Amino acid sequence: MEICRTVDELKSLTEQVKREGKKIGLVPTMGALHNGHVSLFKRARAENDIFVASVFVNPVQFNNKEDFEKYPKSEKEDLLILERNGCDIVFVPTAEEVYNNETPEHWSFGKLEEVMEGKQRAGHFSGVANIVSRLFKWTQADRAYFGEKDYQQIAIIKDMVRQMQSSIEIVPCPIYREEDGLAASSRNKRLSPQARAVAPKIHEILTKSFQQKEFLSISQIKSFVENEFKKYKEFELEYFVLADGDTLQPVKTKEESSNIIGFIAVWLDGVRLIDIQKY
Ligand code: PAF
Repeated sequence: MEICRTVDELKSLTEQVKREGKKIGLVPTMGALHNGHVSLFKRARAENDIFVASVFVNPVQFNNKEDFEKYPKSEKEDLLILERNGCDIVFVPTAEEVYNNETPEHWSFGKLEEVMEGKQRAGHFSGVANIVSRLFKWTQADRAYFGEKDYQQIAIIKDMVRQMQSSIEIVPCPIYREEDGLAASSRNKRLSPQARAVAPKIHEILTKSFQQKEFLSISQIKSFVENEFKKYKEFELEYFVLADGDTLQPVKTKEESSNIIGFIAVWLDGVRLIDIQKY
């Protein structure tokens, strides 16, 4: 596995790969790798000639300084996990290397970013687009893999690809869940043992609402989920939104969309967790 710390190193390796006519699969990460990432690595490894990953905690996508500072970092372990999963090239830059002391660009995504994560975290998706667009250009990847836990991020990145007029294929991958149903996330590492024990309720409550969907209207599904969370003092529900899976716009009735997704953000033990449920 080649470890690149500069853009020039990365570009010279990937340019060589492209000259040989090989396909590149990219998995961008912020490190603190877990089994959810590993499921993306396996896809990228199996479906491409060359598997490239990046490990970079992107400061410009955090609108909360404390969240950025507390983001877990484990470079040594991350590199071992990547090596074990057949990574060919890993890019591990500093913020100076990525942004070269320049002001990040401003990306706009219209209505896609007016809801959920975009609404709660001002500037977040513009920050994501800054790093992801650079990675796409520097690696010349043919495919890029993203987990569906960050469903809105995938919709934003697809729109970014359209704006860039790029031909890269965005591959959405199913959420990797721990045995108790909790969606894998680097933030799970910050939960106390007590909070970790209650965290699977997020998926459990969403699953229960899914099982009752035939008998409930959209507003009843919403109330059901909100009331279930009220039973657990450990949780603070930030939002639960039922929206169309393509436009991401909230729906009021089931007839409005054949692809309804429930998007949730909850606080638990000072940690913000997100998840989705397809209805
Ligand atoms: O999903 C993430 O981990 C990040 O938003 C990403 C795509 C690696 C960009 O920093």
